[in-house]
Amino acid sequence: MKILVVYYSMYGHIHRMAEAVAEGAGSVPGAVVEMRRVPETLPQEVLEKMAAVEAQKAFAHVPICTVAELGAADAVIFGTPTRFGNMCGQVRQFLDATGGLWMSGALVGKVGSVFASSATQHGGQESTILSFHTTLLHQGMVIVGAPYTIKELMNMAEITGGSPYGAGTLAGSRGDRQVSANELAIARAQGRHVAGIAAKLAAK
Ligand SMILES: Cc1cc2nc3c(=O)[nH]c(=O)nc-3n(C[C@H](O)[C@H](O)[C@H](O)COP(=O)(O)O)c2cc1C
Repeated sequence: MKILVVYYSMYGHIHRMAEAVAEGAGSVPGAVVEMRRVPETLPQEVLEKMAAVEAQKAFAHVPICTVAELGAADAVIFGTPTRFGNMCGQVRQFLDATGGLWMSGALVGKVGSVFASSATQHGGQESTILSFHTTLLHQGMVIVGAPYTIKELMNMAEITGGSPYGAGTLAGSRGDRQVSANELAIARAQGRHVAGIAAKLAAK
């Protein structure tokens, strides 16, 4: 059973969350988990102005995803930073290259799941995940979130990302907030939950 964690990260928050999602998915017997990045679309000059170049070096070793790899997976867990309440353009562009998978129905019946990161507490994590689901539904994917049996979703003792739609983290307005232990626990649980459902579907 192949699980792909496919993401874009500019400053590392989504990368850190992707590691936790992959760890959780990998804890399910029979799951083979791979992490992949979507291709960068911004010019180097812009990335430099956005102070992203140094940050991105930390995860430059993660291979770039191909569309064919999506088709070969049993489940795909996508990660994206919020951009104006939506997925980022890099992920959008990657998904817009999956028309061939749509034509052949290659993703129909496979599990799709999403996690996100935003600068601020109400900056659009939930709208990012829910609007992402539209694309997954067009591809015929079976959408899986992060159920409330994950007790960290109920944590009111601190500010935390994450909702039943999927794990999330808050980067802070300057991007200097680190992913919290609570958010990582939700991310691991989402990965585990997705892989568990994918295993049941694969057994049929
Ligand atoms: C063009 C742009 C738009 C953004 N839009 C939002 C937004 O709508 N809400 C929000 O809270 N943060 C927004 N952010 C902040 C990013 O979501 C934040 O930098 C990101 O979640 C950090 O994740 P990363 O470290 O994985 O790149 C935006 C950032 C950029 C560059």
